[in-house]
This record gives sequence, C-alpha cells and structure tokens, in this order.
Amino acid sequence: MSFSATDINLKALRSRAYNLRWATLPEDVIPLTAADPDFSSAPEIAHAIKQYADERVFSYGPAEGLPEFRKTIAATLQQRKQIHTHDDLVLPVDSAAQGMFIIAKYCLQPGEEAIVFDPVDFLFKAAVDNAGGVAKLLPIDVTTGVFDIHLLETMITPSTKMLCLCNPLNPIGKVFSRDELLAIGNLAVKYNLWIMNDEIWSDIIFPEASFVSVASLNAAIAARTITVYGFSKSFGMAGLRVGFIVSPNANVHEGLLQVSQMRTTAYGVSTLSQVAGQAAFEHAWYWVDAFLEHLTAMRNYSVERLNAMPGITCHLPQGCYLVFPNITGTGMTSTEFASFCMEKAKVAVVPGAARWFGPGAEGHIRICISTSKAVLEEGLNRIEQALQKRL
Ligand SMILES: Cc1ncc(COP(=O)(O)O)c(C=O)c1O
Repeated sequence: MSFSATDINLKALRSRAYNLRWATLPEDVIPLTAADPDFSSAPEIAHAIKQYADERVFSYGPAEGLPEFRKTIAATLQQRKQIHTHDDLVLPVDSAAQGMFIIAKYCLQPGEEAIVFDPVDFLFKAAVDNAGGVAKLLPIDVTTGVFDIHLLETMITPSTKMLCLCNPLNPIGKVFSRDELLAIGNLAVKYNLWIMNDEIWSDIIFPEASFVSVASLNAAIAARTITVYGFSKSFGMAGLRVGFIVSPNANVHEGLLQVSQMRTTAYGVSTLSQVAGQAAFEHAWYWVDAFLEHLTAMRNYSVERLNAMPGITCHLPQGCYLVFPNITGTGMTSTEFASFCMEKAKVAVVPGAARWFGPGAEGHIRICISTSKAVLEEGLNRIEQALQKRL
C-alpha cells in the first residue's frame, strides 16, 4: 500500500466515518478532525474476520476474553514494549475509552483525586468524572512538552489515588522520556498511586523519538501501572471498538473484571472484534510500518506548511498523527479559528477548547494528518488561502 489517494475509499468513508468526519459533514468539507485514518485497514484484518464469520458460529465468548486474543496480546507486549505480562492479566475491552472508564472506576472512590495532564484528550477527565472522582490538572508546555515534576508532587494529597499518563500525549504529540517516566513512576510508588497508562498511541512514534513503556521500567513501578491500549489509532479499527487492559497482578485484574460488568454479560467485547485485534497484532505490523513512514512525511509536510502561514507557529510532534499549531498570532480564539476554517476554507479542524483537551489547549487547533498527501495538501491550501484573504 502506498498510502496515496487511491488507497482511500471515499465512498465508504462518506457513509461510515462518523465522529466529526466524512459522514457527518457536507460533501465540500475536508475533515481533519477525529484521529481516525482515512486509509482502508490491513487486508489481513478483514481476512481474519471473514474466516471466522464463514463458520457461522457466533456463540458467547468467555467473559474475560478469547484465550487466543489474550495470548497474542501478552506475547506482543513482551516482544514490542518489554512489558512482562501474562495472558491471564489481559482483559479485552470494547475500546480504549471503555478501558479508561473501567480503570478510573476501579482506582477511584467518589471524591478521590486523579492527576491529569493539561492539555490532554478529554477522555481522561471524562473517565475520572464518570467514576465520581476529581480531576486535578497538571500543566504541560504544549510546545516543549516540559512539565514540573515538583509541582506534580505538591499536587498529591491524601485523596490522590491515580496519575493519568497518555504516552504519547494526544494532542501535543509528546513522547515521554525514560527519565520522565521514572520520575512519575517513582512518585506513584512513593505515594501508593495507580498509574492509568494509556498507550493507544504507542506505535505512532516518529523516527527521532523512541517509545518506552512506564510498565517496563522496574517491578515496583510496574506493580502500580494499569495499561490500556486500543486498536483504533495504529490499525484503523475504531468502528470495531476493541482494545485491552493489562493489570499488574491477578487481584487488580479481578477487580477490573468486576467493575467492567463483563461477567454479567451486560458488557463485553464482540468475538469478531477480538479476532480482528488478534489478526492485527499477528499479521499487520508491516502495514503499521508503512503507515508510519507515510505519516512521518505528512507530519514534516504539514508542520512546514503551517509555519509558513500568517499568524501560525507549529512545533514538530514526536508521536501521534496530529499536529497542534499555535494560532494566537491570527488574533482569533481556537473556537473562532475552527469556525473560520469551516466557513471560509471548508476544512473541519478540532479547536483547542477546554471541552476537548482542557484549558491549556486554548490558542491551538488540532489537525489530524492521517490522510493522503493530496487531501492534506488541499486542506492546508484552503486554510492558507483563507488566511491570506484576511490580511
Ligand atoms: C489518548 C486516547 N485514548 C483513548 C482514545 C479512545 O480510543 P478508542 O477508539 O479505542 O476508544 C483516544 C482516541 O482518540 C485517544 O486519543
């Protein structure tokens, strides 16, 4: 696959890609919004779904997930992320989002506190809120990715039970260094806090950065870490709603399973989606590698283009297929800028509004770059022309 315009099935996207994307917008609008690839997924994933479906047996699966799925996940995490785990500690969930909600519910009693970076994806605060917890926001510099570990320590109170980590960090594209992760992990050990470790973006790492999992650092930190992953970002499987949680031990795993309500069968992950997730981890890494090569070119291209536009500066993200330009030089707020793009350029972007990423995102917009060069170029051309007309 060349990840060019011919690898995009626009007809299918127009009827299937929701969540602020093609299916929800007028035909003349280019969506650079939700972090969801425009490209069709690896054929091996569809093949596995077809093979399973051909048998026409769709019985209940086990509440704790298909054994083959759990085995593949544990082996892959060991091999690719140096996370020492075991099949029995892997719990399939119907999305990373659901995994985050389950983890927050397990770790927090109503009124207890969790520390959440600002800015970061809205799901962290949503998960904490849903558990009845209180999210305390820790600022992180959008451009440099620097945060104050001492400030983080002073924010910890007797009510604090969880630190939320998004590595790499959507929307700023920061990849945490080993030293930063050690510092965060050591605080979790010192104060007996859980780390909600969201690694959904951990395969989208650009060449200058390297990914380290906080769960791989040492046994003490691993014992405090609950990792969540989803297949939406790396494999383009968002609609299949599948991911997993990895627990540090059997007690935590059992607690999460209880909170999840999967044993009651009120919740649970479709067996077809687990089959697809397993196929992705077993057969589709070549696809992710090629995707990443394309994304690296798109990142370089979009950052260069944005920095040449009046009133805009844009840092180079280390991970995630998102760019997060500073638009304050245009004199518009992020919401005004997003409306401007929609009305004057017919391009949809996500405003750096508090509801999406926290108050620290203001002055920025988020652009998803997981599309073809042709679509991205057209979107950026339109934004540039609209900005030039304002001058
Ligand atoms: C950091 C982060 N976590 C979780 C999710 C949710 O992913 P899923 O589709 O698996 O629910 C997203 C999606 O944008 C994300 O960026």
